[in-house]
Parts: sequence; C-alpha cells; structure tokens
Amino acid sequence: MSEIFEPKNIIVTGGCGFIGSNFVHYVVNNHPGVHVTVLDKLTYAGNPENIAGLPSDRVELVVGDICDAELLDRIVPGHDAIVHYAAESHNDNSIADPEPFLRTNVEGTFRLLEAVRKYGVRYHHVSTDEVYGDLALDDPAKFTEETPYHPSSPYSSTKASSDMLVRAWTRTYGLRTTISNCSNNYGPYQHVEKFIPRQITNIIDGVRPKLYGRGENVRDWIHTEDHSSAVWDILTKGRMGETYLIGADGEKNNITVLRMILEAMGRDPEDFDWVADRPGHDRRYAIDSTKLQRELGWRPAHTDFAGGLKATIDWYVANESWWRPAKEATEARYRAQAIFHVLGSHAPYGTYNCTGSGVVKSWADIARAVFEAANGNGDRVVPVSIADYYAGAAGPVVPRSTFPSSSRSGSTCPTGRRSLRSTCPCFGIQLYYQNEPMVHEGLADGRALHALYCMVNCAVKLISVIKLDGIEY
Ligand code: NAD
Ligand code: TYD
Repeated sequence: MSEIFEPKNIIVTGGCGFIGSNFVHYVVNNHPGVHVTVLDKLTYAGNPENIAGLPSDRVELVVGDICDAELLDRIVPGHDAIVHYAAESHNDNSIADPEPFLRTNVEGTFRLLEAVRKYGVRYHHVSTDEVYGDLALDDPAKFTEETPYHPSSPYSSTKASSDMLVRAWTRTYGLRTTISNCSNNYGPYQHVEKFIPRQITNIIDGVRPKLYGRGENVRDWIHTEDHSSAVWDILTKGRMGETYLIGADGEKNNITVLRMILEAMGRDPEDFDWVADRPGHDRRYAIDSTKLQRELGWRPAHTDFAGGLKATIDWYVANESWWRPAKEATEARYRAQAIFHVLGSHAPYGTYNCTGSGVVKSWADIARAVFEAANGNGDRVVPVSIADYYAGAAGPVVPRSTFPSSSRSGSTCPTGRRSLRSTCPCFGIQLYYQNEPMVHEGLADGRALHALYCMVNCAVKLISVIKLDGIEY
C-alpha cells in the first residue's frame, strides 16, 4: 500500500449535485478534521438544499463555474486537493444538446488541471464506466482498468476526453492525480431525470413508469455512499497516476429494477409503459473492482440492492418538497426530447414553414411546432408547408406508387426507420400539408419528403398515444 495522504482543506466541484453532495456528507460524517469548499455552478442539476444543514465551519459553498480560470485562481490556493465531480451528467440531455457537455466536461476539466498545475494541489478525477462503451448482454466479461476506451454517447465521449486530459497532464507536467470510473449510482438526492428517481416519482404522481426499448439493458448499480468511501480511499491511499474502477457487483437489467420499484411501492409489476429506445443505448455495463479492493482494501457496505432501493424509495416519498420543483420541467424536457429523437435522426437540411408557428429554421423548430400543435389544440393534424424545400430541391419527385399508401407493422418504411417497438412509423395518421392531405411521395435524392412525413407522423403518434392515455410523455 502507498503512503497515506491526509488532506485538511479540499475543494469538491459539483458538491451540490447527486454524487458530489453525498460525498460532502460522507466527508463531514467520517472525517472530522477536513474542511470542504464546494464549487458548484448550480445548474438545473445542482441544489444547495443537498448540503443544507451541514456545519458552516466545515462546509462552504462557492457558487461558480469550473470554466472560470480567475475564480479558480482565487479559490484553489490554500487547498490541498480538488475532488472533481462537476459535470453535465445525463445521457439523454447530451443527445438532445451536446454543447454544454463539451464545455463543462472537457473545458472545465482543462481549467481545473491548469489550476492544479499552477498551485500544485492533489487532484482526483471522478469519471464513469461509460467511457468503455458497452458489453454484449451475453458476454461474461467486465470492464477492467485495461479495457480500451470506446464511448458511445456525447456524454460518455466528453467524460472519456476529460480522462484523457488528466492522463496527459499527469504524464507531461507530473501532476499528482488519480482517476476513478464508477458504475451507475443510486441513493438520495439523485435528480428526477435519472432512471430510478424518475420512476419512483412517476409512481408517486400516478404516472406509469417509462421503460426504454426492451428493458434488457444492464446497469451495475452501486449505492452512492459506497462510491464516496471508494473515492476517499483513492484520494488518500491511491497511487499517483493510477486509475481505479469502482463497482459493487450490482448488475441488473432495467426491467428487473423497474419491477422491483413497482412491487416495493405496492403496484402491479407490469404497470409501466414501453417507450421508444434511447438512440445508441448502451447495452450493458459491468465493473471488475478487483484492483481497488486488493490494493486499497475497499469494500462496499451496501450489498443488499433490494434494501438500498427500498430506502431510496422511502427517501423520495419523505422528501417530495426536495424533488417536486424539478419534476414538471424534467418531464417537459423528456417530451421535447422524444420528438427531437424522432425528427432529428433523419433531418435533411432546409428551411420550413409551420403554419401558425411563424417561420421555422430547423428540425427542432418543426418538432416544437408539432408538439405545440398536438398539445395546444388537441389536433392530430399538423399543417406543414414544405414549399421552401420543394423550391430548393433538385431532381424529380418520386411517384407516389414508390411508397406504400398505408404502411403497417412489418412493411418496410422507405426511410429505413424502425421505431415504436419495431413498428414502421407510417401509421396512416393523416398529415395535412397546406390544407391538403399529404400523400406518400418523396424526392429522388434522399426521400426527404417521405422522411418528413414519417417523422412528423411518428411524433404525432407519440403525442397521440400520450394524450389518449391521459398522461404526458
Ligand atoms: P449531477 O448532474 O447530479 O450533478 C452535477 C453537479 O455539477 C451539479 O451540482 C451542477 O450544478 C454542477 N455543475 C455542472 N456544471 C458545472 C460547472 N460548469 N461548474 C461548476 N459546477 C457545475 O451529476 P452526478 O450524477 O452527481 O455525477 C457527478 C459525477 O459523477 C459526474 O462527473 C459523473 O460523470 C460521475 N458519475 C456519475 C454516475 C451516476 O450514476 N450518476 C456514475 C459514475 C460517474
Ligand atoms: P440513466 O439513469 O439515465 O443512467 P445511464 O444512462 O447513465 O445508464 O438510465 C439508466 C438506464 O435506464 C438506462 O439503460 C436507460 C434506462 N432508462 C429507462 O428505461 N427509462 C427512463 O425513463 C430513463 C431515464 C432511463
């Protein structure tokens, strides 16, 4: 075992988020001689309530951005270590809008590394197992420290990038750093956008939980308190320049976890909705934490997942005032994202006019117009003018006979798109264009018109399903 580092003043970035705040509680409860400066920008995911009530002589909150080099110049001197949790952390958000992920996760880490270089402080970098990509469902393998990086999503690719910066800065400038890559956390203070809290709070609200795809994707669950104890062990006993994987052998597929939540909350385990899958959805994560256990003697304390899940459910039931303010905005974001996914993946570039919504310039605008029309007037008809597209388009219009007039489940969608549980999105829901029913026809180049037809139909279908159920997606 390497020599023990005994920090007295640490900075915890992202200490008002889920895992960062649990780490702050852990340090306050278990390491009385340590003062914590929380540096947090308080994005939608940061909540000062997460650290409210902790002794003010032990914990100080600095509201600020890790990308702010001047702020780092002011606060880093005088601290022994930075434990870096701050991030944009949600895959679904990263798919809808990757830019904040680049800024906080990559540029933010760069700024912190530069401050670490300047002031010679110890640095621990909190990362994720998602940098390794995914494993096949039937593969017995687990991720180890030697697994090559293979990130799939904008989120995981920015985390992978930040890990690479840490490695390069460590080797080039001789920084005192460690990295940990942890599996999926659960526990109190997790934002209601994430799987477990989203479903618990949906059930509390009488809304059916949402399961992506076939529910077979496997996550390796660890209680956030075990993550905290592991990070502390790595910070104080880890070897410089090393990476440690953190996991507690908690592999479960999503449908199993969802049924456990439903049963623990006294509901029928089948009382949930299957919804469209996340694009690029990683199949399975699994961690081999042998190195951490052997080198540093770390062990997880929360080995009973069902018990930990029940305690987490109880926490959300008892703390509605904590999550309630974020719930509606989160679900609204999911509704918008559902449409962006449907429309975004086949978007030909162009300018479109949506009647009643003014001039729109992007597919996101069309998505918004579809969404507003479907929600605002309860109509499944969305008038879309594609005159601009026609005007700019070269090539002949493909005869309508090229496409089936009413494609049903099992027939081939000309866009090649399959969604909504492997059913072609051409449901025959009529889309009106300039007050005329839109017919199945497309342009020779990329069948863009038909793609538009399918995608808007698909979006309308999604909304219709939701409206019929009386619930919101
Ligand atoms: P979170 O989204 O709950 O919290 C992120 C926190 O960072 C928020 O308090 C937010 O305000 C803050 N923040 C965001 N941008 C900032 C900026 N530019 N400057 C300062 N503060 C900023 O995230 P989380 O789930 O607690 O994850 C924390 C860390 O752990 C992340 O680095 C994440 O990649 C990693 N991680 C998460 C999991 C998981 O299961 N959630 C698993 C492994 C690793
Ligand atoms: P999430 O909590 O977003 O974490 P991550 O993407 O980092 O694994 O999702 C966990 C799993 O749950 C993931 O496979 C996606 C799935 N999921 C659903 O099935 N329904 C949902 O509403 C959400 C948010 C996630």
